[in-house]
Amino acid sequence: MGKMSSSERIIVFDTTLRDGEQSPGVSLNVEEKLQIGRQLEKLGVDVIEAGFPIASPGDFEGVQRLARELRGLEITALARAREKDIDVAWEAIKDGENPRIHTFIATSDIHLKYKLKKTRDQVLDMARAAVKYAAGYSGNVEFSAEDASRSDLDFVCKVFEAVIDAGATTVNFPDTVGYAIPWDFAGMIRYIKEHTPNIHKAVLSVHCHNDLGLATANVLAAIEQGARQVECTINGIGERAGNSALEEVVMAIRTRRDLLPYETGISTQHIVATSRMVSLLTGMVVQANKAIVGNNAFAHESGIHQDGVLKERTTYEIIDPKDIGLSQGLLILGKHSGRHALKAKLEELGYRLSDDEIDRVFVSFKAIADKKKEVYPEDLEALVAEQVLRIPDRYRLVYLHVAGGSGIRPAATVGVEIDGKEAQEVSMGAGPIDAAFKAVAKLVKTHSRLLRFAVNSITGGTDALGEVTVRLEEDGHVVTGQGADPDIITASVRAYLNALNRLHYMEEYK
Ligand code: KIV
Ligand code: ZN
Repeated sequence: MGKMSSSERIIVFDTTLRDGEQSPGVSLNVEEKLQIGRQLEKLGVDVIEAGFPIASPGDFEGVQRLARELRGLEITALARAREKDIDVAWEAIKDGENPRIHTFIATSDIHLKYKLKKTRDQVLDMARAAVKYAAGYSGNVEFSAEDASRSDLDFVCKVFEAVIDAGATTVNFPDTVGYAIPWDFAGMIRYIKEHTPNIHKAVLSVHCHNDLGLATANVLAAIEQGARQVECTINGIGERAGNSALEEVVMAIRTRRDLLPYETGISTQHIVATSRMVSLLTGMVVQANKAIVGNNAFAHESGIHQDGVLKERTTYEIIDPKDIGLSQGLLILGKHSGRHALKAKLEELGYRLSDDEIDRVFVSFKAIADKKKEVYPEDLEALVAEQVLRIPDRYRLVYLHVAGGSGIRPAATVGVEIDGKEAQEVSMGAGPIDAAFKAVAKLVKTHSRLLRFAVNSITGGTDALGEVTVRLEEDGHVVTGQGADPDIITASVRAYLNALNRLHYMEEYK
């Protein structure tokens, strides 16, 4: 099958809040999911997979809030091929606009033998029955054949034919373990199209993982063969090595229209803001050389390249940074800026906040603007994360005093509010951060293990906000916390407490 007529529409299905949230260490609360959901709405995705409602009450609530609040796009939720899962998924999404139930079961022999312990006939029956049951709730049902790329293709065709007859309007062919190679994957999609008699009655979708770094390439190869829905995540986050990155797929289509004459509904100028928001709220730092949204994606280091770009941008840039909303290093606010200007800039960055939330951000903005002459978008994003989007706090930093320097043993005194009551602890450590963490650990009585501690200067200059990421593990739960402050020790303690709040949230709700 060759290229389709020009300007065919590709449906962009974003699963940042479901598969993306399955990234190790990521756990988003309802408020964070709502912020990302609103930003995805602005970005123009067609479908948001908001979560897996049966997995936890927190997931259920997040999906329900998104379904109730977002308009102009479809909200979907994942459900195994079981009635109970489907009931709960439907309950969560039913108030949404054109709610879609997404049910799945594995089709590969490996999964059948070791995971499901079922025969192909049993799986076929379960898939058909699940879709029929889901179709009783909604005319919009997606079915995924998990591990499709390692399945017997004739079996997948048989399952797809049965579920389409049972009411599936989208059938999804996932490369669940990121095993496919682009030309091989293209051949599979071609085979499915040619050997599933009723395939024209459903949208054919693909969902590619990035274990071999080929997710985006596989998605593009599938589009070429007739896939018309692509399942992606912002920044490519997701299980293990992640999913195909939305920004990569969309910008490849846009940049290479000569080879990919398709349209998406994405407003690409919101890509950078969305990427930053997702990175900030998930704690998944974007690698510097990441395509499209990495810090270095538009940085030209060698003299020859810099000279070329200054003479003519297109010598070394295939994308105009403005097209993805990159306002490189643009100064946006200073200490004389008022509340109104702050609100407008936050909206530009994708944050829709209540008056009370703006007030909170404004107070810390003024404090930062007093210390730093220039306040950049990244600083504002960090303030929003600090003041508004944090997990509802069980533990809150009240004060911190550290004594350090050469020749003395570092000590920290930390005051933390725990469930509304203030407590204080003093501790020594190898350095001031170690001392402060030890004091916090004693106060909170945590036995969590520190897996990662990373410091990043958000903008240049010694007055930059320091952003700290902390990853903790406790009883098998892994969480990431972030904190930002011009004082690096304060930022570290904030990040630690943020992670501890997430652990508490996970234990309570997940
Ligand atoms: O990777 C996968 O197969 C999935 C399915 C549930 C669609 O995430
Ligand atoms: Zn997946």
